[in-house]
Amino acid sequence: MSSIITIKSIGNQQDLVINPPSGGLSLQGTIKIPGDKSISHRSLMLGAIAQGETTIEGLLLGEDPRSTAACFRSMGAQISPLNSQSITVQGVGLGNLQEPLDLLDAGNSGTTMRLMLGLLASHSNRFFCVTGDNSLRSRPMSRVVQPLQQMGAKIWGRQQNSLAPLAIQGQNLKPIHYHSPIASAQVKSCILLAGLMTEGKTTVTEPALSRDHSERMLQAFGANLAIDPETHSVTITGKPTLIGQKVVVPGDISSAAFWLVAGAIIPGSELVIENVGINPTRTGILEALKMMEANISLENERIVTGEPVANLRVKFSQLKACTIEGALIPRLIDEIPILAVAAVCAQGTTIIKDAAELRVKESDRLAVMASQLNSMGAKITELPDGLEITGGTPLTGHEVDSYTDHRIAMSLAIASLIAQSSTTIHRSEAAAISYPEFVATLQQLIVN
Ligand code: S3P
Repeated sequence: MSSIITIKSIGNQQDLVINPPSGGLSLQGTIKIPGDKSISHRSLMLGAIAQGETTIEGLLLGEDPRSTAACFRSMGAQISPLNSQSITVQGVGLGNLQEPLDLLDAGNSGTTMRLMLGLLASHSNRFFCVTGDNSLRSRPMSRVVQPLQQMGAKIWGRQQNSLAPLAIQGQNLKPIHYHSPIASAQVKSCILLAGLMTEGKTTVTEPALSRDHSERMLQAFGANLAIDPETHSVTITGKPTLIGQKVVVPGDISSAAFWLVAGAIIPGSELVIENVGINPTRTGILEALKMMEANISLENERIVTGEPVANLRVKFSQLKACTIEGALIPRLIDEIPILAVAAVCAQGTTIIKDAAELRVKESDRLAVMASQLNSMGAKITELPDGLEITGGTPLTGHEVDSYTDHRIAMSLAIASLIAQSSTTIHRSEAAAISYPEFVATLQQLIVN
């Protein structure tokens, strides 16, 4: 490691110290990023409940998919060790998940818990208990518990059945048409997975389109879906035969976002990020950065097992402020922490609104990004549902904290690269949730 980057371990926590040279640094190179987290979870889950073998190339080998794999192993699926580029899953067949002998631990992963709840609630005559880490046990589960209860599910938990640990007595459910008050792929996917096991047609309508990886993968595994793009509605017909598939997981655009912003804000930088998933429900980050006049181009666009993929090239340019709101928000929901860093470097005042969902992510991402970047000299005002960020003030190194949130840890690391002195990011080990190689890749890209 160069002296620019140092890691200090304190028990099982890590401080990441970033000390840019006085003359500044730039980032140069071509990189691959880890597999898409959303698609990784879904490939493990659908592989586990399908008949026969599923092979998964490029699975994210991060902490969150490990939580999913551990849960489904304890319900009878055979999943090869998550230590290679090619993973195999021997599924149990639809309806055949076994009652686990112990708690199902979703760790830090909201996707694992919320999607799994749809499957568990609909496995009749079996009992399940699900839990997670401190962060996950404080995140709202009523958004999935309530629609599942409308389908007839029996679920108990703290605070009117809204917080994990949750106990589930599986039932034969009845189909519903659920009008979700929020654009959430986790809510939509939970209900679709419950609908898989339910006789008849189950429909979810959402106020704006959220990521559609579940719809794409369910269809690839043999489920019968009807999609109405006008009304943002998806209908699933219950009790199909799901057959194991070959899944190739593209690189995660949410992980690419750190390098897109880093390349755009650090003078002299040019990066190529290969094999990035560019599903239109996820490309809000590209549109936001384009509004900010970033220099980003797409190369070698192609389709890989049902998902669009491209290489992304980014070069430094002076960014301009913009407003990010409305239907764009669900299409860049996980990229708002790193967009806040871009806005700190943009000329003018960037407004992010309609993003109150960020308060119930792995941390309260609005409060944490505002307080941590402000401690480095940024000018950010927290709004109830967003951030107002006046760019152009130089950042100064400071002690900051990830609040154990992977995307906060990595966003603060990118901000530290443009600070005028050394920054220490406490609890930076959180990055391993979605990007175990983040620091190694950063190290590889630094030119000074
Ligand atoms: C995800 C959906 C989003 C996103 C999360 C992953 C998914 O959450 O923030 O990181 O894989 O379905 P919401 O559905 O809560 O918006």
